[in-house]
Amino acid sequence: MVKRLGIVGSGIMGSGIAEVAAKAGVEVILRSRKQQSADAMVEALGKSLDKQVERGKLDATERDQVLSRVTATHDLHALADCDLVLESVVEDLDVKKELFRGLDLAVKDEAILATNTSTLPVVELAMVTERPERVCGIHLFNPAPLMSLVEIVRPLTASEETIEQARGFAEACGKEPVEVKDRAGFIVNALLFPYLNNAVRMLETGTATRDDIDAAMKGGCNFPMGPLALLDLVGLDTSLAILDALYDEFRDPNYAAVPSLRRMVTAGHLGRKSKIGFYDYRK
Ligand SMILES: NC(=O)c1ccc[n+]([C@@H]2O[C@H](COP(=O)([O-])OP(=O)(O)OC[C@H]3O[C@@H](n4cnc5c(N)ncnc54)[C@H](O)[C@@H]3O)[C@@H](O)[C@H]2O)c1
Repeated sequence: MVKRLGIVGSGIMGSGIAEVAAKAGVEVILRSRKQQSADAMVEALGKSLDKQVERGKLDATERDQVLSRVTATHDLHALADCDLVLESVVEDLDVKKELFRGLDLAVKDEAILATNTSTLPVVELAMVTERPERVCGIHLFNPAPLMSLVEIVRPLTASEETIEQARGFAEACGKEPVEVKDRAGFIVNALLFPYLNNAVRMLETGTATRDDIDAAMKGGCNFPMGPLALLDLVGLDTSLAILDALYDEFRDPNYAAVPSLRRMVTAGHLGRKSKIGFYDYRK
């Protein structure tokens, strides 16, 4: 059973996972490269919980209990006693490999090291450690507190016990786990990203406007948001990294990122996180 969780990465997903786990009664240690970012994340979590109290979704005592379970650090060694460490840093294989090397040295031997990667090969991370049988993927969705699915990713190297513990952790957090082999994109992103990529292509070729593409998929398929709004939510840099990893693995033209997506990332138009993407969030 996971009593103490380490989270590495203080971006969109790291903070969401912290909220999910702390609400499930797990002690959470958040690690960011800078103490300031880690502290800012805990502060932001406090504000988000305050809003939930104002809306009557959480009572004040619960908020205090949840917050008391979360601490922030910049030091990887502060994760030494965690039962599970779930990394959620930038979608870049070299960065994640380097982090796994460090985690393997810093965290107790019996702990599981997991990745929240959307597409990257989990086995590559397992193989840079001395504990490949205790490495797997635990892929949550955005926004983590609201989305019920967790993909448990089983690399060739993972033991049955690791997969069972990962599944148990997801269930203890109130999520619905599914299991999937270690293939780029797992289930959801392998099916979702050709659709999102083709929506950008449709915009690029002038087939329809941004608003009409999004309205069509909401009204015609009953999706809660259109594909271009969803790309802004996911982050265009993360989306591009996902498409590149999918294309790398399968060489399917549907996964080849449309040029305008790459250009937007180069220009720093990353979606909600940079306040501009397909939509403008600056106002
Ligand atoms: N955004 C989504 O919808 C979503 C959903 C599920 C999973 N994921 C996965 O979660 C992970 C994080 O995504 P995110 O959306 O939270 O990204 P983000 O851009 O919001 O945050 C990325 C984090 O990585 C850190 N980082 C950047 N470069 C680093 C480096 N060189 N070394 C260590 N840390 C570094 C940043 O400081 C930041 O804390 C990725 O693997 C992504 O594929 C994202």
